[in-house]
Amino acid sequence: MKISLDQAKKLLISGSVVALPTETVYGLAALFSLPSAIEKIYTLKGRPKQNPLIVHVNDLSSVYFYTKELPPQTESIMKTFWPGPLTLVLPANLERVPEIVRSGKPTVAFRIPSHPIISTIIEAVGPLVAPSANLSGKPSATKTSHVENDFGIDFPVIDGGEIEKGVESTILVYAQGEWKIGRLGSISPEDFAPCLGYTPKTYEKVSKDPICPGSSYRHYSPNAHLHLGSLENCNGGVILGYSDRVYPNASIVISMGDSTNPHSIMKNLYTSLRKLDEMGILEAFIDIQFPMEGLYLTIYERFFRAADI
Ligand code: TXA
Ligand code: MG
Repeated sequence: MKISLDQAKKLLISGSVVALPTETVYGLAALFSLPSAIEKIYTLKGRPKQNPLIVHVNDLSSVYFYTKELPPQTESIMKTFWPGPLTLVLPANLERVPEIVRSGKPTVAFRIPSHPIISTIIEAVGPLVAPSANLSGKPSATKTSHVENDFGIDFPVIDGGEIEKGVESTILVYAQGEWKIGRLGSISPEDFAPCLGYTPKTYEKVSKDPICPGSSYRHYSPNAHLHLGSLENCNGGVILGYSDRVYPNASIVISMGDSTNPHSIMKNLYTSLRKLDEMGILEAFIDIQFPMEGLYLTIYERFFRAADI
């Protein structure tokens, strides 16, 4: 159910959860200051309680208020990339950040989004926690129809049209003396080099356990069984491919945009994965013939996780 900004503000203040657009994906928002509302997010999504939430704020002073002893370069990272699709995991001020937000961890994740709708709502009601607005494990939502599909047509959502970026924020975490990528996202690792003086490595490359609990669960997955790699075995089947390529051995091609433009692929990624379910497709092949660098790493990671390999 499409709602106005005023209706969203009232619902949030009264302890309800509403879906709203950010520049990355739709979020499922609740007031940071209302643990009973945050509880509802976990129930609605079927989200494991060990998976903490990102706090969305509008200014650096909120970040300082809720954290302590910030790692080196935090301020210059914040000033370079916010507002925008970056999340920072920082040491929490444990008295000020409720346990339910951090899932009991000593850290808390922050981001200042750049989408005017969520910024306006934060301005009016204060900080929001907001995971992606999808059922846990399913592809994220980049259109209101995706939100309605997962939570029902009566679920309150502010319509922001189709989302600009299409994949979640990049998460940076400070560990073992350097910043690392906790989750690949819509800012590529190389983009941090001018600010940090180095390109951050992905955390999983240096540790077996992901630092972001969300990265250890099945994620972004449609019902279809997905094959990555060779398209040769697709005998008249379904291919998730690109508009600038031809696929003679496929009966259905779902185009994710131009293979040379990772931004267009990211924008169409979750819509394409969701299309498989909408069409009742049970098996599909994904074309991953692209350079394994920059934003293509994010795209590959989402496909890999969606395929649950
Ligand atoms: O673009 C985004 O970040 C979107 C929009 C709505 O802002 N939000 C989003 O939230 O992707 P969610 O809940 O789907 O993913 C949050 C990720 C999870 O992998 C979670 O484990 C990680 O952030 N996370 C949150 N707090 C953390 C913490 N204190 N330490 C490590 N990872 C954390
Ligand atoms: Mg998510």
